[in-house]
Amino acid sequence: MCGIIGYAGHRPAVPVLIEGLSRLEYRGYDSAGVGFIQDGHLHIIKAEGRLSSLKAKLEKHPCLLAVNGIGHTRWATHGIPTERNAHPHLGGDGKLALIHNGIIENYQELKAELLEKGYDFQSETDTEVLAHLIAEGRKQQPDMLHAFAWALRRARGAYAVAMVSPEDPGTVFAARLAAPLILGVGTGEHFVASDIPAFLPYTRDVVFLQDGEIVRINDCSWQVLSLSDLSVIDKKIQTINWDMQVAQKNGYKHFMLKEIFEQPHVIEECLSGRINLKTGTVSLPELQNLPIPERLRIVACGTSFHAGLWGQYLLEQIAHIPTVCDIASEFRYRNPVIGNNEMTLVISQSGETADTLAALRLVHAQKKTVLGLCNVIGSSITREADAVIYTQAGPEISVASTKAMTSQMLVMALLALYYAQRKGIIDLQALNQAAKLLKNLPGILQEALPDMEKTAEKLAVQFSKAKDFFYLGRGHAYPLALEGALKLKELSYIHAEGYASGEMKHGPIALIDSAFPTFALAFDDDLFAKTKSNIEEVQARNGSVILLTDRDVNPEKGMHIWKIPSLYGPFTSFLALSAMQLFSYCMADYLGKDVDQPRNLAKSVTVE
Ligand code: F6R
Repeated sequence: MCGIIGYAGHRPAVPVLIEGLSRLEYRGYDSAGVGFIQDGHLHIIKAEGRLSSLKAKLEKHPCLLAVNGIGHTRWATHGIPTERNAHPHLGGDGKLALIHNGIIENYQELKAELLEKGYDFQSETDTEVLAHLIAEGRKQQPDMLHAFAWALRRARGAYAVAMVSPEDPGTVFAARLAAPLILGVGTGEHFVASDIPAFLPYTRDVVFLQDGEIVRINDCSWQVLSLSDLSVIDKKIQTINWDMQVAQKNGYKHFMLKEIFEQPHVIEECLSGRINLKTGTVSLPELQNLPIPERLRIVACGTSFHAGLWGQYLLEQIAHIPTVCDIASEFRYRNPVIGNNEMTLVISQSGETADTLAALRLVHAQKKTVLGLCNVIGSSITREADAVIYTQAGPEISVASTKAMTSQMLVMALLALYYAQRKGIIDLQALNQAAKLLKNLPGILQEALPDMEKTAEKLAVQFSKAKDFFYLGRGHAYPLALEGALKLKELSYIHAEGYASGEMKHGPIALIDSAFPTFALAFDDDLFAKTKSNIEEVQARNGSVILLTDRDVNPEKGMHIWKIPSLYGPFTSFLALSAMQLFSYCMADYLGKDVDQPRNLAKSVTVE
């Protein structure tokens, strides 16, 4: 968690840092701070709460002369979210200022050592320990760079750190270990940040830093060095073709709404080059050198896990590949038995989720293959996986995942079709039909979204007083029910539970009464009648129902029918997912919740 940015260049640094932090706020937002060198002195300004509190404070502080500095937006791990615990932290009475994303696991042991040496601690953070350790290193090392490396070599855990010091007034030092850090290469200016949008207005030329690398930037140069011996590492600059527009709201009230409405485009992007309508084939060149797995294991967290679970149904039905789905935080501590011809697919939008990354490493430790399904280019999972399929959804700013899930589901569908094709178990006609449907999906969704938003707005008003919600689904609608419940609770703080419809009778139905509504998903397939009878059981107990369906259903008392366009089999899920996203969005917005940055959450969960 936490977002970091460092700048060295020719512009006033503080506005650049603040602008960058505003695009990193999704990584944490309980406090923020900046550190910069002005008139040869180190200045630190920090504030509890959102970035706006820091901005208000900065208005009273002259800071336009500084041309380098560091900035941080925090999601608390060690120490409560207060100004005192906000970053930057000073090392050795102002010798340096440090910002950090991650956790220093051996901070207690290091702190004890530093306390003995007389260091005084102002905060409860692990970061301040590292800051003092660098200051201590400076007493023995020839310069700040050596002191920085010396201290980092003693730290265990995960970090992306950046540091400024009056001793080296034009320089920003940064380093990474198991936390994201990207270098931005501009003209007469350089950046380091946790994510590319932080510096995208200034440059699209980037260098992805690896674990165990230090970077030193000033206005006119950059250099990447090995943490172990400070030898220079030759790095390649890559040009990102993201457009700044995608990182802005584009007139939508919230990023989440914008990202829901971007989904038709995301589907197009994700399909591009992967489906050939002329030959009726699916191509995933990323997989051509890997054998067809006998079994597949999907590991992910949260929404990405739901996308994986949805994919499980398709991989078994279409590609006949036995598939299991695991929550990463459970998988990693279960001593799992991984079969010889089994492939693990890790799904992660950010590519940085700590548990998913640990799961990947556990599979690698058993010398088994890992395929990554990620959105963020250059993220840890993409670097460590044996092969990577990118979802190509573009930056997702809203903390709640929407378009990323759509793109993950789409790749799962492609994966099922691809393996079925490689195994020769799908006929060309069926493949062609599926390919055509997927190609038509963006247009169908685009047309349906405005009406869906209107229905969602109406239902949100009607159900805004609900304190609880069930989400029910069967077959591939079951993972969607889980996702619907997750979206509602994380955005509007309404208690919601997703269940497989058939499980209701085994206990949960006891909760149903007139104040406990149910959001049911039933599509025009073999399972429709079964889910419909579960819905009747809910109604028989006075529970009101929203039925999301693509079938014509006669309205009944206490039932709100939400009709969506019909697509072949599981592909209706893409429309259903958007409808549920809009319902949760409208509920949260109607209830006045902070849609893009719900309380207690962060976009990238880099701690376990
Ligand atoms: C919910 C949400 C989270 C993430 C989860 C995994 O809206 O976004 O549940 O899906 O934290 O994140 P990634 O996909 O980045 O590994």
